[in-house]
Amino acid sequence: MNYFTYRDNQLYAEDVSLSDLATRLGTPLYVYSARTLRRHYRVLAEAFKGTDSLICFAMKALSNLSVLKLFNELGAGFDIVSVGELMRCLKAGADAGKIVFSGVGKTDEEIEAALKAKILMINVESRPELQRISMIATRLKLRAPVSLRVNPDLDPGTHPHISTGHRDSKFGVPLAQVHEYYAEARTLPNLELAGLSTHIGSQITETDPFAEAGQKTAKIVAELRAAGIALKYLDLGGGLGIPYQEQPPSPADYARALLGPLKNIGLKIIIEPGRVLVGNAGLFLTRVLYVKETDVKRFIVVDGAMNDLIRPVLYEAYHEIAPVKPRTSGARLVADVVGPVCESGDFFARERDMPAVESGDLLAVMSAGAYGFVMASNYNSRPRAAEVLVEGDYAHVIRDRDSFDDIVRNEHLVTFRGGPDE
Ligand code: LLP
Repeated sequence: MNYFTYRDNQLYAEDVSLSDLATRLGTPLYVYSARTLRRHYRVLAEAFKGTDSLICFAMKALSNLSVLKLFNELGAGFDIVSVGELMRCLKAGADAGKIVFSGVGKTDEEIEAALKAKILMINVESRPELQRISMIATRLKLRAPVSLRVNPDLDPGTHPHISTGHRDSKFGVPLAQVHEYYAEARTLPNLELAGLSTHIGSQITETDPFAEAGQKTAKIVAELRAAGIALKYLDLGGGLGIPYQEQPPSPADYARALLGPLKNIGLKIIIEPGRVLVGNAGLFLTRVLYVKETDVKRFIVVDGAMNDLIRPVLYEAYHEIAPVKPRTSGARLVADVVGPVCESGDFFARERDMPAVESGDLLAVMSAGAYGFVMASNYNSRPRAAEVLVEGDYAHVIRDRDSFDDIVRNEHLVTFRGGPDE
């Protein structure tokens, strides 16, 4: 469900015409719908109503300050994975007491910043990390609330690059070692054993892996309780998929599967959704430069590229591509939609059967709100796109397009010590 709809044969973001927006701000452009973001959050919150729970938006999916502010105002917490993300959500006004810190490689500086900010808890992924957190907390004379991230060893049935719950992945503590870890954590100074966490992968389109994760974590919580370790939080991670092409479960079915095994668990449930909140609330707007015909293929060359949206080549991801003003003839064509970057991997779609387009037409690459702009780079010295947040008939520019100065800002033109021959 989103608020990108056609009116008079023109695609709109809420009440803003995308072609007007492109004329005003140029392309390529990321466009988000505030009404859709809010709706997604409310539907998910509704699915967890009646459960003592906290939604921590996995901000890695879309970390623009204004988007964080929007979720903060709705009551969300945040799942962060770096000190940069910590600073972003504090800058957006987040309550540190609703922040959880995930990730397999936290540096001393990051641990220190998180402890000083007094975040809700750090999700710990290894024994040396546990020891390091205890050491830093002791030096700072602070208590460190920690949660062990368990690797539940299950197959979430998603793309290997975004699957994290297998025992051979780098993530989490092996199931068999969870008890040892908690026993050790109990003996380390300045740690508070606050919770148990897990995250099994992303773009999951079945409920079974969630139910299995719920069951496995419930069992550990019960065993720990029997061993005298009373936790406060059970963090079940993110991972619910969106309909790029496939049909994922609804938030209500997802919540039922996850919570089914956790009745009367007596812990606050935390979830870390990323994609499901923002994926379908964003699109990537790009203009057709050329329609190029070779003797074997047709290419639609657009002004956006893999540096703007890398998901198609990185995960073989499908994104629907919609014309902003469909031609009334209804004609169709089959083409690869490609960008200007000098790589064959620079494509948004291959052999796509789609409405016919011509040079100058605008295309919307749909479902681009999650892991779109945040994974953009300046490859080929291309400026990263501007980002716009539409609210009703108003378009907030929430990030300017990079200027050339932005691209070279941290570089230095040095004076060489030797001559050109040395
Ligand atoms: N929590 C943790 C610890 C995570 O690692 C992730 C995502 C999430 C929550 C949020 O998962 P979500 O609800 O968004 O599925 N760039 C990839 C996705 C990478 C996901 C990384 N971790 C893509 O474009 O598909």
